Amino acid sequence: MLRSTTKKIGDIRLLDLEPAGHDDRLDILAGMRCDQKEISPKYFYDEKGSRLFDRICEQTEYYPTRTELHIMNTNIDAMTGLIGPRASVIEFGSGSSTKTRLLLEHLDQLAAYVPVDISREHLLSTAASLAAEYPEIEVLPVCADFTRPFDLPEPTIPPERNLVYFPGSTIGNFSRDASIELLKVMRAEAKDNGALLIGVDLDKSREILEAAYNDAAGVTADFNLNVLRRLNREYDANFNLDRFRHLAVYDDDNSRIEMRLVSLMRHAVWIAGERFQLDEGEYIVTEHSHKYSPDQFAVMAATAGFALRETWTDTGNLFSVLYLEAV
Ligand code: AVI
Repeated sequence: MLRSTTKKIGDIRLLDLEPAGHDDRLDILAGMRCDQKEISPKYFYDEKGSRLFDRICEQTEYYPTRTELHIMNTNIDAMTGLIGPRASVIEFGSGSSTKTRLLLEHLDQLAAYVPVDISREHLLSTAASLAAEYPEIEVLPVCADFTRPFDLPEPTIPPERNLVYFPGSTIGNFSRDASIELLKVMRAEAKDNGALLIGVDLDKSREILEAAYNDAAGVTADFNLNVLRRLNREYDANFNLDRFRHLAVYDDDNSRIEMRLVSLMRHAVWIAGERFQLDEGEYIVTEHSHKYSPDQFAVMAATAGFALRETWTDTGNLFSVLYLEAV
């Protein structure tokens, strides 16, 4: 049985589903014991990593953030027209983004805004700032692991429909199987009359993709290497950052960018008392970022019970925002 409590924190009503703590240390050790060593991208986002990610979004080569915002700005009326009045917006992740604000400002008679995040602190701070900025909107944060089904709070105004919002092409960081599982959770939260608005990065040339993930200023390199700094600090590891270099490679068989930390020499590292040997040129995979065509994504979403209703892209066909309805 999942525990659930409703807490009043200042003016905010938090539905705390008390997500079970995960043993990150075991997770990291298991990844490093694999033939192909890996560290999950979830460890990127400590305070410094989150700041570096914000800087990545400003790099000229990294087109997704500004392109998605441009698509949202250009098509917001069509989007809100399809969504209709009195929607409750359930955002997977606690959105502080300009895109979320755009949606909240344009939707007709919004019933509620429900951000869902596993990080209680981050969730509460974004919920509090949105509630202060939009006092007329009912903000109902839920602390939960959104990869598993969770209970929703009941807004004061009964919603006409639930709209799940998942911007940023974060879906790309999940494997294809995990994406389908996540889409099934979204379908369950959307309920029968619900819909999904999702940002999906489009498959494109190796040149554009590799430039986006190997920016000239080296911000993505710092972001990638920072995960080792975090493991040193929080998980009793002794990585020497000078012994690794960042590399992002487009894997066209799997239509995805693979982020790597390549060992510059044969050496050993220790993590939580366990020794790991790395050869010169051997690498640790830190992230996959899958790219789709709208049709490929629609096929995947259909297995989860969503039908693609509308696709918006930019003129360069770099990024897409898809609107899907529960079927
Ligand atoms: C968060 N996510 C969608 C980013 C991406 O493009 O896959 C993370 C990222 N990694 C390197 N640059 C950006």
